[in-house]
Amino acid sequence: MRGSLGLCFFLAVGACDGDGTDSAVEHEVTWHADVHPIMEQHCTRCHTEGGQAVGDFSDLEQARAFAEVSLGRMEHDLMPPPVADPECRDYIGSEHLSLPPHSLETFRTWVDSGMPEGDPSSAVEIEPIETELEDPDLVVLMPEPYTPAFDDPENVGNEYRCFVIEHGQDEPFFITSFHPIVGEAALVHHIVLFSLDERHVPDDYDPAVGVDCINGRGGMVGRIDGMLAGWAPGMTPVHLEEYDQAGNLTGTRGIRVAPGQRIVVQMHYYRNGPEVDGLSDQSGYAFKTASEVDTPLIMAPFGAYNFVIPPGDEAYSYEQSFSLPAGMSGRVHAVFPHMHVLGTRYRVWSSRGEDQTCIAEGNYLFDNQLSYVFKQPVELQAGDQVHLECTWDNSTNNPHRILPEPQEVRFGERTDEEMCYAFSLVSVGR
Ligand code: HEC
Repeated sequence: MRGSLGLCFFLAVGACDGDGTDSAVEHEVTWHADVHPIMEQHCTRCHTEGGQAVGDFSDLEQARAFAEVSLGRMEHDLMPPPVADPECRDYIGSEHLSLPPHSLETFRTWVDSGMPEGDPSSAVEIEPIETELEDPDLVVLMPEPYTPAFDDPENVGNEYRCFVIEHGQDEPFFITSFHPIVGEAALVHHIVLFSLDERHVPDDYDPAVGVDCINGRGGMVGRIDGMLAGWAPGMTPVHLEEYDQAGNLTGTRGIRVAPGQRIVVQMHYYRNGPEVDGLSDQSGYAFKTASEVDTPLIMAPFGAYNFVIPPGDEAYSYEQSFSLPAGMSGRVHAVFPHMHVLGTRYRVWSSRGEDQTCIAEGNYLFDNQLSYVFKQPVELQAGDQVHLECTWDNSTNNPHRILPEPQEVRFGERTDEEMCYAFSLVSVGR
């Protein structure tokens, strides 16, 4: 199909239905009017000068230079990095996290028509994407800068360190928005945010160096009572306000943190090359908090543990279900899907008799784990079933695998073992 339509490089409805010769030529697809806005909406928060990914895609010449490769990546749901499908259930930020099919179509048309610049006066105004949390009221940092040594022969170039970040609050409070503060961007590959009962902080915990917690070491990650969120470069702040269908603010939601709970960050430091040697990092989190919210949220770690992923299988799926017990009702407000490096796809849904309701579904990438806060929560009542399905690629085709040869993989904390979770923010009752 591509390139075979001759003159049909136009967005006019119907223009390409026939032989493409005499339909109205209303709107040629150009950089200024069509493609630059797509880049700003979906690409430039990572593909920018000094950003985490190559090129500056707000620049026409660079966008052109990468266009063929970009199109291939976009067609395979590799760029922007895969996220939950808003067609399953829409979530806050989906308009820039997920590439809609019509934008892919527009980009393809632009590439096929020779990537015209068009008229600068047709440029449309682009709303900037929020990249930092504005006006946080609680900012917590690692107490001291930490310099990764990268001296673990079993995990060359990688270090996972867990730091307890003291929130200093004596009263319970609710987290209503959050976003990390990244100290040294050249070192930080990704961050996972947990909450942990203070009784599980090791006795010999040293705040200056944290705990080595790669592959479940350090005794802290195995005891997590709540994995709250993941962050990787390019992700935007998470907000828990509730909106109606028209987009009006209708209520506040927040994750309850009790005085006895500690917030933990698992920092994944990565040695890209010798240029990061000796650099230190002091990261943390910025929060918006409230002492009261309309809807308190708790973390429900819905997971599967009994799977056995056969070696060589490139799409092995495992399903786990549970029923809401009698007398229980509630709502699912957000989901944070979590697998390790073999994970390729997840699906979370509920069922009531014959009726099914999609909760979250999408392709999965370990390096790009997001929390999806739904625009409309999912209502659950006693007897409803909730289902979770994880799919893994345990074949040599999987570029992210750690083990040199595929072998049977089961549940475990190590990155070369697997997980299958939908950490869910839920409210109980109506
Ligand atoms: C969340 C950050 C992020 C966003 C958003 C993003 N990218 Fe990327 N992109 C990356 C990273 C990281 C890499 C390098 C790793 C890789 O190749 O997968 C990359 C690699 C690429 C490459 C390969 C470059 C090369 O030559 O190696 C292309 C092409 C690309 N992205 C295009 C796009 C396009 C087009 C968009 C928007 C539709 C986009 N990306 C959105 C992070 C991002």
